[in-house]
Amino acid sequence: MRVAAGKLKRQACPVAIPGSTLITQIGELVTNDPGGFAAITNAALIMEDGAVAWTGPAGQAPAADSVIDAEGRAVLPGFVDSHAHLVFAGERSAEFAARMAGRPYQAGGILTTVAATRAASDHTLRANLRRLAAEMLGQGTTTFECKSGYGLTVADEARALALAAEITPEATYLGAHVVPPEFAGDVPGYVDLVCGPMLDACAPHARWIDVFCEDGAFGADEAAAVLAAGRARGLGPRIHANQLGPGPGIRVAAQAGAPAADHCTYVSGEDLDTIVSAPLVATLLPGAEFGTRHPYPDARRLLDAGATVALATDCNPGSSFTSSMAFCIALAVRDMRMTTQEAVWAATAGGAKALRRTDVGHLGVGARADLILLDAPSHAYLAYRPGVPLVAAVWQSGHPAAGPASAAPAA
Ligand code: NIG
Ligand code: FE
Repeated sequence: MRVAAGKLKRQACPVAIPGSTLITQIGELVTNDPGGFAAITNAALIMEDGAVAWTGPAGQAPAADSVIDAEGRAVLPGFVDSHAHLVFAGERSAEFAARMAGRPYQAGGILTTVAATRAASDHTLRANLRRLAAEMLGQGTTTFECKSGYGLTVADEARALALAAEITPEATYLGAHVVPPEFAGDVPGYVDLVCGPMLDACAPHARWIDVFCEDGAFGADEAAAVLAAGRARGLGPRIHANQLGPGPGIRVAAQAGAPAADHCTYVSGEDLDTIVSAPLVATLLPGAEFGTRHPYPDARRLLDAGATVALATDCNPGSSFTSSMAFCIALAVRDMRMTTQEAVWAATAGGAKALRRTDVGHLGVGARADLILLDAPSHAYLAYRPGVPLVAAVWQSGHPAAGPASAAPAA
């Protein structure tokens, strides 16, 4: 018996490995491989013990303990959102509205969120964070990075990272987001705090350290010092680079041995060479350009030069308050001239590469069984039907995590 459209029902199959699940009649199975987008049409996938155990043509699928009929729809790796700021309180819709009415974005609004975040209870911050994480999961994001950066005191940064570490292994210490008001005029004093007592309190909860390298935030030497201090404590380097104008961020990323440079909106010829030769993943965050009316990064130029590109949301209450990877894919395809295949690869395998993860972002045998079922026959619909919620079901480590699959009782 096959499953009725729109419902996911499991069907017992007597001769199979216990616990294995076969998804069959997949119209397009996006598997990805390290070199780029890869897909199988009329495909099937078996997951077992939280990992992908088999993929191939539906007609050749081995038996499994239970069977799900995808009815010709597409299955993709879960999205990997490698850049998000989710620990905060308050919102800045008035700032957004003013910007849309013509006021420029100067990153000054960050301090509005810092004040609200400091004043918030642990309960409020945790609830806000978990609501956003659930929102991401429901839209197919199965791995996400999460930064601090709206506390900017030892206690508030450590609190943000402890909360982030409760729900993701990819927690990033961003004490060097901006200089807080109590250190105005004393940037070296704040950098010392970030590299000293604040780092001591935050390092146990974090995998990564990040710095906003930009005019009005931190310069090249300060950014390099922050990343070096983090590396000495075992944290991997990340960086906000070349977001609001040309600058040294991409060079600093390469010198620090970072896996990626994030934003890359203003990229010189020398920066392009650095991205390709280091190599750095260029993590593009088109939600930020959408929300600030900056020009989109030139993805085509990066890709044509041989760069690896990732897409991420930059979800934050100021420049990019979207949690939707599908929205970023649509922007990248429509406005940054990425192909639908390049954009989907960048939002899955590209994000994984930016986070130095080999277990997610693809559906090769042995990968984590993090996958999404689209209510559409191919990956292209993510850009072809912008703004439409196409994610019908999500599995994380082989477990139904969102959509009808998570509600359906096992047969
Ligand atoms: O990535 N660039 C710095 N940080 C964020 C903006 C944060 C905010 O405006 O609150 C970004 O765009
Ligand atoms: Fe950011």
